[in-house]
Amino acid sequence: MPTVTEALNTMDYGPAPESTGHAMDWLKSRGFGHFINGKFISGSETFASINPATGEELAQVAQGTAADIDTAVKAARKAASGWAALSGHQRARHLYALARLMQKRERLFAVLETLDNGKPIRESRDIDVPLAVRHFYHHAGWAELAEVEFPDHRPHGVCGQIIPWNFPLLMLSWKIAPALAAGNTVVLKPAEQTPLTALLFAELCIEAGLPKGVVNIVTGDGTAGAALVEHAGVDKIAFTGSTEVGRKIRHATAGTEKALTLELGGKSPFIVFAEADLDAAIEGVVDAIWFNQGEVCCAGSRILVQESVSEQFTNRLKARMKTLRVGDPLDKSTDIGAVVDQIQRQRICSIVDDAVAQGAVLHQAPAYEGKGSFVSPGLLTGLGAANIANSEEIFGPIVTLMTFRTPNEAVELANNTRYGLAASIWTENITTALDIAAQVKAGIVWVNGTNMFDANAPFGGMRESGFGREGAREGMLAYLAPAAPKGAARKAVDAPSALPEAGSGDAIDRTRKLYIGGAQKRADSGYSYAVAGAQVPLGNRKDIRNAVEAADKAGKWSGVTGHNRAQVLYFLAENLNARAAEFAKQVGEAETQAAIARAFYWAAWADKFDGRVHSTQSAHVTLAMKEPFGVMGVICPEEAPLLGFVSTILPAIAMGNRVIAVPSQANPLPALDLYQVLDTSDVPGGVVNIITGPRAELAETLAKHDGVAALWAFADPAICESAKAQSAGNLKPVWAESQERDWQGAEGQSQDFLHHAVQIKTIWVPYGA
Ligand code: NAI
Repeated sequence: MPTVTEALNTMDYGPAPESTGHAMDWLKSRGFGHFINGKFISGSETFASINPATGEELAQVAQGTAADIDTAVKAARKAASGWAALSGHQRARHLYALARLMQKRERLFAVLETLDNGKPIRESRDIDVPLAVRHFYHHAGWAELAEVEFPDHRPHGVCGQIIPWNFPLLMLSWKIAPALAAGNTVVLKPAEQTPLTALLFAELCIEAGLPKGVVNIVTGDGTAGAALVEHAGVDKIAFTGSTEVGRKIRHATAGTEKALTLELGGKSPFIVFAEADLDAAIEGVVDAIWFNQGEVCCAGSRILVQESVSEQFTNRLKARMKTLRVGDPLDKSTDIGAVVDQIQRQRICSIVDDAVAQGAVLHQAPAYEGKGSFVSPGLLTGLGAANIANSEEIFGPIVTLMTFRTPNEAVELANNTRYGLAASIWTENITTALDIAAQVKAGIVWVNGTNMFDANAPFGGMRESGFGREGAREGMLAYLAPAAPKGAARKAVDAPSALPEAGSGDAIDRTRKLYIGGAQKRADSGYSYAVAGAQVPLGNRKDIRNAVEAADKAGKWSGVTGHNRAQVLYFLAENLNARAAEFAKQVGEAETQAAIARAFYWAAWADKFDGRVHSTQSAHVTLAMKEPFGVMGVICPEEAPLLGFVSTILPAIAMGNRVIAVPSQANPLPALDLYQVLDTSDVPGGVVNIITGPRAELAETLAKHDGVAALWAFADPAICESAKAQSAGNLKPVWAESQERDWQGAEGQSQDFLHHAVQIKTIWVPYGA
């Protein structure tokens, strides 16, 4: 007879499987087709949806063709005006009805999700489904309030939405709920691995009495996704998935007016300071990387632990890892289920093998001998800086661990990635927590927590993790178009023809100069072009590179207070006013006076475009901070050479960015002459850099440059297209507008300029817990 202690120590879990009867009956009773215009339509070809835990087929699902996508987009288009014309309250009722119905089917949704994806039932039941329901409730609220809260905005129209397989129902709700709340209609393509809960959701759309065509769901693989992206009838694309496909979508939409948001991969740091509550941090790792088999875009996949506690932490972590239960996802005591398919399993194993071949040490629990695609939890240590596991998204239950000595080193390691999705910071010192939160390049920062989500907390990345936010007020903006400028389409200007620069030996040097790093610089080319009796430098790639370097060095500007930036901008407005007569000679009195007024206007905003505090479902203050991008490129409008320049550059710098500006090509003189005003107004060198010359070439260089974090192009359609297409490298957000604005009027100072000058960092700070 064992003692009680022995019994407790040797006790194991008995099986506690969730019943699949109801879900299997549902699957058997359906022949799945696409959901278009309120009914199911069978596809010409089908493919199997497989249970990754067993390898068994769950259902045959239709493979969408370009023709199916076309039918769905047409249905969405037909429904769009009627849906947008409903009152917010009427749309809210529909969203509310969907939320209620989902809640009634919670168990069926959870079991189906686990069968299709392989995730533990505990997670689909307690996390995926409740969060999806919450998303519909929350957005029923936004539908109700949209007219009042987002004046001067309209829905985009038809939204094409493509989602991945890691959170199938949750991603569906993140996409569909805000789109409908804002008054759009939708064609959604679920991932080919996990289409089933989307099809159950489609049934609820019928049951909820949603007008036909408002939600359409076309199943299929990436070819169906690509057809949706390319369809001319789609006004906005929202994508969540791999960075590689994100890049393709950026290219495919470049030559169109389609709005785009991308939520891509990550390699998020999990930073543990010596003074952290180490037990809590260990449980944090479990939630960071062993939640959903590590198939989480914002997974804390890189542990950075302070050297003094690293040995202790690593030992405790290894011990905790051994207690994780890998196995049948339907068993309520399973911690780690199956990864989504054998391809994903092989992808994970191959990166881990490469990491080990490059010298890393793998600590892993023994393999689980199930039939399906299982990967045991693992920890990689002893990694060199260049190890593949430090840079590649593994997207599986394998975490890396490195150490740091000082907070600065932690930040350096944390930011040593091309991604910028999330970060977790573990410390009992609030100063350290918030100091590091400010410095990490990540769209979401969790303090003493990880992988927390809420419909009222904006979610999305920086850098190559994509752009745009989902959730909360900020996410609603991604589904609303601001009132568009009403001006004529911009026309291309011919590239200027080159003249040799006037030599400095001339009696009067009539060649204007570029303005880089607070100094006047000759163009690298040694060429200029003629404008109104003056010679203007022909800037080239090298000049842009120098300007980016100068802007990069002026990083302090992003850290000064809004008040200080306002002071500088007011000073600039005053100095512009003092020289009004000189500028009036170039552009006339009206444009000059408007430019002065505009400078005062943007100065006023410098300390007022605040972030927000969001209330989430947990004990946190969730801060949505507005951060500058850093270095931005601005292709200023051809029209209104002074006013257009001032109206675009100043909001960007008011928000803390440093800019490389390409002024009007036909008349760059007022912008070049502005350097004296900048110099006398305490604008630090490198904050505004002015490069004149061939717009198309300069725009392309800015788009391609990895050091440029965001780009605005007020230019002709060809430049707008190239700016978007060439930006696919570092996936910088591009705001491209090929219609002229009325710079004198309200269009010249709309809030869009501020929204496009910042990115949201969502920081979850424990509060009242
Ligand atoms: P993926 O990016 O290929 O798939 C995501 C969605 O995009 C699916 O619905 C797919 O059908 C669709 N798609 C594929 N090619 C397309 C195209 N050319 N145009 C439009 N849509 C297209 O991701 P995949 O291959 O399933 O996974 C590969 C890796 O991507 C994973 O190992 C992981 O590292 C990463 N990933 C990241 C996700 C995230 O949430 N950030 C989600 C899924 C995967």
